[in-house]
Amino acid sequence: ELKPLPDLTPQHRDLLDRVCVYVYETCHPPPTEYSYRDMILKDLESFIRQEFSGSHLCLFGSSMNGFGFKGSDLDICMTLEGHETSDDLDCIDIIERLAKLLKKHLDLYNILPITTAKVPIVKFVHRPSKLEGDISLYNILAQYNTRMLNMYAAMDERVRILGYTVKRFAKICEIGDASRGSLSSYAYILMLLYFLQQRKPPIIPVLQELHDGQPKPEKMVDGWNAWFYDDLKSLPKKWPHLGENKETVGELWIGLLRFYTEEFNFREHVICIRQSAILTRFEKMWTSKCIAIEDPFDLNHNLGAGVSRKMNNFIIGAFIKGRETFGMTLRSDLYHQYTPMPYIVDYLFDAE
Ligand code: GTP
Ligand code: MG
Repeated sequence: ELKPLPDLTPQHRDLLDRVCVYVYETCHPPPTEYSYRDMILKDLESFIRQEFSGSHLCLFGSSMNGFGFKGSDLDICMTLEGHETSDDLDCIDIIERLAKLLKKHLDLYNILPITTAKVPIVKFVHRPSKLEGDISLYNILAQYNTRMLNMYAAMDERVRILGYTVKRFAKICEIGDASRGSLSSYAYILMLLYFLQQRKPPIIPVLQELHDGQPKPEKMVDGWNAWFYDDLKSLPKKWPHLGENKETVGELWIGLLRFYTEEFNFREHVICIRQSAILTRFEKMWTSKCIAIEDPFDLNHNLGAGVSRKMNNFIIGAFIKGRETFGMTLRSDLYHQYTPMPYIVDYLFDAE
């Protein structure tokens, strides 16, 4: 049922390259936004210490993982000195007290504690910047996956550019909101990294496997081994394949859309970035659901678990449509050197 695609002409490839780079250039926040986010964090921290002395706030998620958009939300994790874990804390009570306290902060509004979710949080909006934020407690594994994603983003600029492209694609196709039954942007970044690891030759290594045949070092967090190779400077020595694959971002973008529509076996296999060997759904006993995406550290966590069959088909449908829009011979006016980039990008991402 998939239409055959023509070979990429150099002209077509160059256009896709420009589109991906343009999305990256227009979506990523300027350096000043990063320092602004830090400022908000420090301000909140000192405010919260009025009531919770010894509390620490730490940013994670896309503010720190190399795939943040202008205006992405602030994902904040709070910990308390003297408590290694949250085991001896009443998290629901803390979230409720935190919400009460934040209501007194003049820069914040729409304070909303959510204590029924798997991870209890308090949500807010920061008035001067209009940034949304949420504070969770002892979300330590998320800080590890944030650092690992950041390392993947930093090792090859194609990773970062494609991360923005796939997030933008998911947003425009309305398949990128886990709270509405689809997948989180974190899940799409995992899909991207998996594709780049499986590409031949691979663009990126499996950082959780780079331990030279020695037993994997242990960094236990919440019962899971959160170790990964994190020395960016020594990576080229450690993994000599870095830079071996010379494909352009445009080729890789259409490669990703083709991989998830033509090659990847959703019925049998799990999207899994922690090992290079194929992982089957049977091994995980994740046989009931449609899309299986394993969290790289919390191996019981399937990011596709909340996706219904109907939404699953909708997501696959968006990839099939994307494969055709980006992969078919494009309208000739799009190649014209005076056609404005915003027009081309809107056309390609929004094409009916
Ligand atoms: P944005 O859409 O730019 O906010 O991307 P994000 O990566 O910050 O996504 P989000 O705010 O939804 O999640 C914040 C972080 O929580 C992620 O980056 C992960 O580090 C972590 N995380 C761990 N497990 C999950 C999960 O199942 N769903 C989501 N959404 N995040 C998870
Ligand atoms: Mg976020």
